[in-house]
Amino acid sequence: MKKLIIAIDGYSACGKSTTAREVARELGYRYIDTGAMYRAVTLYFIDHHIALTNPKEIERALSQIKVSFVVNSKGISETFLNGVNVEREIRTMRVSENVSRVSALKAVRMAMVEQQRRMGKEKAVVMDGRDIGTVVFPQADLKVFLVAEMLVRAFRRQKELLEHDDLVDIDSIIENLRQRDSIDSTRAESPLRKADDALEIDTTHITIEEQVDEVLRLALTKMIRHQNQQP
Ligand code: DC
Repeated sequence: MKKLIIAIDGYSACGKSTTAREVARELGYRYIDTGAMYRAVTLYFIDHHIALTNPKEIERALSQIKVSFVVNSKGISETFLNGVNVEREIRTMRVSENVSRVSALKAVRMAMVEQQRRMGKEKAVVMDGRDIGTVVFPQADLKVFLVAEMLVRAFRRQKELLEHDDLVDIDSIIENLRQRDSIDSTRAESPLRKADDALEIDTTHITIEEQVDEVLRLALTKMIRHQNQQP
């Protein structure tokens, strides 16, 4: 079977990561959460008080940052920043409130996109983010773009935070999602947008299982079509 690059883009809290992780598990592919990479950079910037207006400081900081993923004993990929597990910390509101401004910086994007391309070189990868189908892998074999209604997204994010004992009121979550949608889709550097050849899935009224099944169906269709084209 042909090994695919599967790009899953879309707005925050539409179920991208959960879908991408499950699709990767089902196919035996590698899963790369690019949002986690931007979150890890943001955490480093906060902890080291990096001034977002100082290009030299940003460059120096980026040269000190290594983001990696390690699969834990439960088979779940976790994010490491310079060898330290930061999976929990990068999901907190402190990081969520700053990540869109950090990920809008050109130097940050260039550094992360280069790493992401290296990670996907061998194919057999599911990558989720905002610009995977448009910038990181415009030649991806399958591009999916997820959308959902705001309230559903906010409740999903609240549940996720609660799983980490972080109780955040729904209005603050909606405000944060709105702000991030706006910054992510209006920034100058690779703004969030659906690639022309991406397939849109509205996840408002479907379950995670249905989302996963739909992406798997699309992936298998691509594989079969490719196989049938072989001599
Ligand atoms: O998917 P997420 O919510 O964990 O992503 C966190 C932030 O990172 C999001 O607000 C926008 C940014 N991001 C990005 O700019 N490009 C990506 N490929 C992935 C995430």
